[in-house]
Amino acid sequence: MLEVKEISVAYGVIEALKGISFTVREGEIVALIGANGAGKTTTLRTVSGLLRPRKGQIFYQGQEITRLSPHQIVAMGLTHVPEGRRVFARMTVMENLEMGAYTCRSRAEFKANLERVFQRFPRLAERKNQLAGTLSGGEQQMLAIGRALMSRPRMLLLDEPSMGLAPLLVREVFSIIKEINEAGTTILLVEQNARMALSIAHRAYVLQTGEIILEGPAAELMERPEVRKAYLGE
Ligand SMILES: Nc1ncnc2c1ncn2[C@@H]1O[C@H](COP(=O)(O)OP(=O)(O)O)[C@@H](O)[C@H]1O
Ligand SMILES: [Mg+2]
Repeated sequence: MLEVKEISVAYGVIEALKGISFTVREGEIVALIGANGAGKTTTLRTVSGLLRPRKGQIFYQGQEITRLSPHQIVAMGLTHVPEGRRVFARMTVMENLEMGAYTCRSRAEFKANLERVFQRFPRLAERKNQLAGTLSGGEQQMLAIGRALMSRPRMLLLDEPSMGLAPLLVREVFSIIKEINEAGTTILLVEQNARMALSIAHRAYVLQTGEIILEGPAAELMERPEVRKAYLGE
């Protein structure tokens, strides 16, 4: 579904990604794990068209998207949930969800998508008139994911959905991600929380200072001594 081929991305002279390649197959959850500064966010921003790679190519559903704009990419069903749950704080929950629905072609489609998001996140329905900035951290993450689901994506790019959340909420967010995947959405999940990410992913890649150093089935990576030591705190 997604094929990233040898992409290099630089910020001025800083080379953030040094020719990385990876794939995500339809129906999978693929995790990209790595320490702070490894290049995880840069990878997602490049796939979603917010950054231009210096080299390399990106294919989505067999079509090259390397030079498409973010809105063209969203329209193809590939939606990004950015790091730090960037909800519109001064807008209500409902208005945030409307912002995510700009690809909807009709009122009926909008209503159907809203219905589905409210079913997945009943708490958002209860709080639809509340200002997003007054939601708890966990609720804001759910709103950020719910907003992305309003475009009915075939594939979601999730940037550190567990960041800053209490352990109980981390578990809740990951179980929701798993449910979204089981309902048919392919997921590329970027996380510093390697343990949780590997526990729900089918396959994973380990990113270290702009390079992929390990890849494989998530369960296998979890058993590798170097992963346990460097990323699972053992
Ligand atoms: N806007 C930017 N300008 C300059 N350097 C950046 C910028 N964004 C990220 N970087 C650098 O690129 C590298 C990768 O960052 P990032 O992709 O945010 O890593 P991660 O998401 O894995 O923490 C880091 O060295 C970071 O300092
Ligand atoms: Mg990041």
